[in-house]
Amino acid sequence: MYPISRHSRRLHLRELRPDDVEGMFAIYGDPRATEHMSFDPRTRQDVEGIVARSIASAAADPRQEYALAVADTDNDGGRLIGFGRLALDPHPPRAAGFGFALNPDVWGNGYGTETVRLLLACAFEDLELHRVWGARSPPQHRLRPHHAPRRATSANTSNAAANGANPSPTPSSTTSTQPLPQNDRSP
Ligand SMILES: CC(C)(COP(=O)(O)OP(=O)(O)OC[C@H]1O[C@@H](n2cnc3c(N)ncnc32)[C@H](O)[C@@H]1OP(=O)(O)O)[C@@H](O)C(=O)NCCC(=O)NCCS
Repeated sequence: MYPISRHSRRLHLRELRPDDVEGMFAIYGDPRATEHMSFDPRTRQDVEGIVARSIASAAADPRQEYALAVADTDNDGGRLIGFGRLALDPHPPRAAGFGFALNPDVWGNGYGTETVRLLLACAFEDLELHRVWGARSPPQHRLRPHHAPRRATSANTSNAAANGANPSPTPSSTTSTQPLPQNDRSP
């Protein structure tokens, strides 16, 4: 499916653009963000490559990767403040791994929650997937119950995807989620 475009109250989930490199570098180049992911801070040149590869992957047919910008709708140009990624699994069918990261300067304002809702709505409604899973970092044990996924397992330590655009956290456990009831899904 192309293009993806979904809005929530404050955010726009959209396709990546070449001018998103600066916004992406503010995340992937920042050790505060990469501390929770599976790689060290990237250089600006690395990020240019990641953005270019992600944009190219959107043209694949069938499309297997949805590397998307999370943009701030308050800003005229739709400045990128985060990144989300859905990577379709070949097995089982209609499943995907997902990950996301936001610019550390905007953490703590509920954008993370809004981003997850947008990504899950994209997965379950736009792409009609049946299952989405993601890895999480150990510190997230302090999440309150209302943030917990409907089902969780802790046996698998693998990460969602292998390429450099993977925003998954340090592998430690996996969580999976099925479509939520309608009234829980609105972004
Ligand atoms: C995880 C992340 C997206 C959260 O963004 P955010 O905008 O600060 O999130 P929110 O403001 O919506 O917070 C949602 C809840 O998660 C909690 N939370 C946020 N980051 C957390 C963390 N690292 N560990 C535990 N809880 C966390 C918040 O306290 C809040 O809980 P509360 O409502 O009970 O107070 C952001 O910290 C980030 O980009 N981290 C680096 C990448 C990463 O870890 N990605 C996640 C897995 S791929």
